[in-house]
Amino acid sequence: MGELLRRYWMPVAGASELDANSIKPIRLMGEDLVLYRDLGGRYGLVDRHCPHRRAHLSYGWVEPTGIRCSYHGWLMDETGRCLEQPYEDVANPNPRGKERCSTTAYPVRELAGLVWAYLGPLPAPELPVWEPFTWPNGFREIVLADVPCNWFQCQENSIDPVHFEWMHDNWSLRLRGRDGAAPKHLKIKFEEFDHGFIYKRVREGQSESDRYWTVGRVALWPNGFFLGSHFEWRVPVDDENTLSVAWFFMRVPKGREPYVQATIPTWVSPIKDASGRWISSHVINQDIVAWVGQGTIADRTKENLRSSDVGITMMRQRLFEEMEAVAAGRDPKGVIRSANPAQNIPLPNMAREINTEGIPLAEFENHPILKARLAEFRHHYGQPPQVRRAFQEAMGIAPE
Ligand code: FES
Ligand SMILES: [Fe+2]
Repeated sequence: MGELLRRYWMPVAGASELDANSIKPIRLMGEDLVLYRDLGGRYGLVDRHCPHRRAHLSYGWVEPTGIRCSYHGWLMDETGRCLEQPYEDVANPNPRGKERCSTTAYPVRELAGLVWAYLGPLPAPELPVWEPFTWPNGFREIVLADVPCNWFQCQENSIDPVHFEWMHDNWSLRLRGRDGAAPKHLKIKFEEFDHGFIYKRVREGQSESDRYWTVGRVALWPNGFFLGSHFEWRVPVDDENTLSVAWFFMRVPKGREPYVQATIPTWVSPIKDASGRWISSHVINQDIVAWVGQGTIADRTKENLRSSDVGITMMRQRLFEEMEAVAAGRDPKGVIRSANPAQNIPLPNMAREINTEGIPLAEFENHPILKARLAEFRHHYGQPPQVRRAFQEAMGIAPE
């Protein structure tokens, strides 16, 4: 599975995280690394330990070209080359000595305020530019969470329509001390397309002409989820830990254009409360309760899959087939090798108009989803007050 997942670019950080501190220790796909941005604006993702005698590079510093170790001053660049070995350069200058000392390094790119890394065999494929990344006039924010379980049970949640009714609707009612029941799912179906799977649903009070059935939601291949105004990715840290990366877009009300966001904030959402219980007040926190509750690596031999789980079976089978494709030397599903098709890739989207055309602030009242989004950030617990404030200013609803 690691061989397969390393064929895809992964979002691994928010670019704004590196504004405050240019070096971030990070663990990805079972490897301890440091992510950095040097003074020339180049990103690097290199072995966490210096190629000299293994000092921890997050205690080094960045320079115009590369990252320098604080132990004996070796300087490495984003390709992993060792550029300087200060004592050797005085006492024993020999370019080949440095050539032997290169370190592990992976390609990094910035897109949509996210830092993306590719940890697979070169040449790297194209980095897909999903259409929402090109939308102007929106407030965007990036939320990270450290989730102590395997990435795939998080991703199975991306193709699980029925859980919305229970985990987000009925459980939220109970958490607020209310009973009653949300509209039941009457019908679901799953379809595959080039960049993943789509699930469609009809609930009580809806019909087949509703966008939940005609358009649906996207389980983005291989480890993402796209819901019209936000993306989520489940990035493997190792077999037992996942970095949850979410990217949110909220278009400013019509009439407030042009809105240009100076920097896209990144924040980390805590997942446990002071007593050590999982936080359950926010939508993605509720999902996290499901993911970690299944165990560090869910035991699938003890499951009982039913018709609500057809999409999960489709996704598992596709993963097995794509692992075989990689083993046979082929590019797996969704890998893009030429530049043009990677630009501005449209995805099925129930919320396209409200994100690209917008509505006036006065009409938000009539739009339950947008109205709720103005009132509070419901996806992740712990939005910092300064992010809330920047959001309110963008929307034109900041208190005096
Ligand atoms: S351990 Fe990094 S320069 Fe010596
Ligand atoms: Fe959910």
